Amino acid sequence: MKFNIALLPGDGIGPEVAAEGVKVLEAVGKRFEHEFALHYGDVGGIAIDRYGVALTPETLAMCKKCDAVLLGAVGGPKWDDPRAKVRPEDGLLGLRKGLKLFANLRPVKVLPMLIDSTTIKPAIIQGVDLMIVRELTGGLYFGKPKKQWQTAKGRHAVDTLAYSEQEIERILRVGFELARSRRKKLSSVDKANVLESSRLWRQIAIELSADYPDVELQHMLVDACAMRLIQRPADFDVIVTENMFGDILTDEASMLAGSMGMLPSASLAGVPKAGERTFGMYEPIHGSAPRRAGQNIANPIAMILSVAMMLRYSLGLVEEAEAIEKAINEVMEEGYRTYDIMEESKKRVGTREMGELISGRVG
Ligand code: IPM
Ligand code: MG
Repeated sequence: MKFNIALLPGDGIGPEVAAEGVKVLEAVGKRFEHEFALHYGDVGGIAIDRYGVALTPETLAMCKKCDAVLLGAVGGPKWDDPRAKVRPEDGLLGLRKGLKLFANLRPVKVLPMLIDSTTIKPAIIQGVDLMIVRELTGGLYFGKPKKQWQTAKGRHAVDTLAYSEQEIERILRVGFELARSRRKKLSSVDKANVLESSRLWRQIAIELSADYPDVELQHMLVDACAMRLIQRPADFDVIVTENMFGDILTDEASMLAGSMGMLPSASLAGVPKAGERTFGMYEPIHGSAPRRAGQNIANPIAMILSVAMMLRYSLGLVEEAEAIEKAINEVMEEGYRTYDIMEESKKRVGTREMGELISGRVG
């Protein structure tokens, strides 16, 4: 089959890890006889430098025409001034909103051979295999009013946490569907003891659970969830939550896996169902790591796992996705490590070498 992929390498280590993702994609194409046509575009700081905006309408239109979007990372100190009119992150938010990517999936799985490379006690992270589903186009990130203004008594600012029933329902369905395909436990995370939007969220979760009698639904307050994630992370299966809570919890959860360099993400425009294809954008959860850029040291595995997620959710190529995951496991078993997961007696390799080892195993 032939597929069209929009490739947005972005800033910092983005282009370096994206190049390794492409190597692996090409290896998959060869072995399984698919053609992946890559359509390159700029997003983030590089787009600001070239066009004055973090995302041009042309790039957005190009993404819409493809089967899926692969993104490296955006941002860097050069564009960090809080007074700046344009920010690299606007590119990311513009893609999420413009492509209607309301469901962000961030799986956190601890590979047994990396269990000692994390900062948390091995006994606690043993068996961690959870999925955080974060609402991505609503809540505090996009709610209006959103502004700063001057008053006689000084400056004011406001952000708005707003959700409609439709927005809550569709993201909860993603949580229920994924839980159904996994260990059938859904933790709906909110702040219903304080926030109106959370009370609506919780009510809708209870109503929807009638459609999913096979899934065990649990409600959890976000502060308690933050604690639980460190205390008993292996208890979680699927967590579903609003945008800002999800942003914070996913960074926390990433540390369970040892390094952000290991974690992929998918941002989907629909509810994923087995055997169906959903449009989406795929990116590592780590940022552009400007201090590591250009040195061939960044870990490309998060990017390569993002390619696997793309094959699974947007292209319907499940066997191909599994081939990538298997290749990564093999390379880890053989003891190859990038700097971020390095341990004594392992073999340290750079970005390109890691990409080649994995694509070699796929091919
Ligand atoms: C993330 C990032 C983004 C977010 C930033 C870069 C805007 O932290 O994808 O988690 O807050 O959503
Ligand atoms: Mg974040």
